Amino acid sequence: MQITLATQPFAALETEALVSYVFEETDAVQGRIAELDQAAAGLLRKLAKSGELTGKMLEFTLIHAPAGLKAARLFLVGAGKREQWNSAVLRKLAGAALRYLKARSVKNFALLVREGNATEESAQAIAEGALAANFETDKYKTDKKNDKNIDTVLVAGFSDAERAAGEKGLSKGRIIADAQNFARDLINEPSNKLTPRVLAEKAEAMAKEAGLAVQILDEKKIADLKMGALLSVAQGSVEPPRVMVVTYTPSNPKPGAPVIGLIGKAVTFDTGGISIKPADGMEKMKYDMAGGATMLGVMRALAALKPSVKVICVVPSTENMPGGKAQKPGDIQTAMSGKTIEVLNTDAEGRLLLADAVHYAKQLGATQLIDAATLTGAIVVALANVNVGVFGSDQSFTDKFLASSKAAGEKMWQMPIDDDYRDFIKGTVADIQNISSGKGGGAITGAMFIKEFTGDTPWIHLDIAGTAWNDDAKPWLAKGPTGVALRTLVHLVLSY
Ligand code: BES
Ligand code: ZN
Ligand code: ZN
Repeated sequence: MQITLATQPFAALETEALVSYVFEETDAVQGRIAELDQAAAGLLRKLAKSGELTGKMLEFTLIHAPAGLKAARLFLVGAGKREQWNSAVLRKLAGAALRYLKARSVKNFALLVREGNATEESAQAIAEGALAANFETDKYKTDKKNDKNIDTVLVAGFSDAERAAGEKGLSKGRIIADAQNFARDLINEPSNKLTPRVLAEKAEAMAKEAGLAVQILDEKKIADLKMGALLSVAQGSVEPPRVMVVTYTPSNPKPGAPVIGLIGKAVTFDTGGISIKPADGMEKMKYDMAGGATMLGVMRALAALKPSVKVICVVPSTENMPGGKAQKPGDIQTAMSGKTIEVLNTDAEGRLLLADAVHYAKQLGATQLIDAATLTGAIVVALANVNVGVFGSDQSFTDKFLASSKAAGEKMWQMPIDDDYRDFIKGTVADIQNISSGKGGGAITGAMFIKEFTGDTPWIHLDIAGTAWNDDAKPWLAKGPTGVALRTLVHLVLSY
């Protein structure tokens, strides 16, 4: 799908649909909508008067053969209250318009930005929204006769003077959305098609194509490094584990800047191991590698956007299976850091992978750590599928991160990890245990466990178990993998 800027006047745009958006206000026909109304001989004012055009969020109004326009259709999307307007709303509107029109076999459309919205930020949001919305999860469907495709999106409403800003935004938006879709494509793969070895091959291919340094650690190298926590999970599967290390080094590093370590959980399938999960819904555990896929996607985007800080990405990957050699509840393992762990529940495996991976990222030189993981069902209880759970050991770093999440339009909510929760993981027979002996605070327990391996290094943990997968399609996004947190992480790295 092409997405390009068009600076000609809207009435002259030859397109299957001219799309714009309407704010919810007493007179919805204002500004550019009033111009459209004038071109269309007062049609919009009539619709507003009859209550059919109110501007309520995601209200859809489709008009065929509008008078005064070259476009075959005029399509207006409700944008909600003007006071609540921001680029996150525009991103959603662009996505919702694309999915609405695609479902009706439209092949191209032009999105006309409102007065004052012809900015780089808007163009970026439109590209991100449209390209993410265009992603479908039908890769394994063999009958594609009835496939519907959008070929071209024009972004209109920019003057010649605003063209450069618009082009810049589109280019940035394309890079970020393509990276997000790259991650979503990996997340969507079933575990028979995407084993740790296959994931590593794909990571290596991506890195080479993007011009990033890459190293794949196989089971032997992982054993040499004494990654006992990761290996304890891997031992239950016939598929060997892998650790991917992808590094971005800036050509002009900023003096005194941190080295950012991005760590992502990549359990290509989580059966729970010997502490096996119930059958109902277990198929969803193919997305237990979403954290790893997201971090690889971030690296893909960074290679093109060229930030001025060094970024080291570490993705530990394994299956969690109950094979004959699987670890059993009560087993004691030694992590790479030397800490001993009593594994009370083999289904709390993500934190075991991350224990070794954060330790390794520090050893490789990371001075600030961020991990992303589908870590706990408890975060779904706490925040549902709306907010990412954010845990941070350094408040100024966490504040900077949360500011990026706002700018990128991804909902995130900070959770506590103060010392009062340390007892949850205090060991009886080993240094620590991988689950709490008591009830409650499951997502915090998971975070506290990872924290043990971060030492004094500022660290943020993202629990994306509730947000990495959409159980239902949204008007602006297909059902399935979301690629959540990627945009925030890219924004954060670019902000140094
Ligand atoms: N992969 C799961 C967490 C998960 C749950 C991801 C729901 C996506 C959706 C994780 O490995 C797990 O099984 N966690 C356990 C921890 C428990 C045993 C302390 C959980 O949340 O039940
Ligand atoms: Zn598990
Ligand atoms: Zn898991």
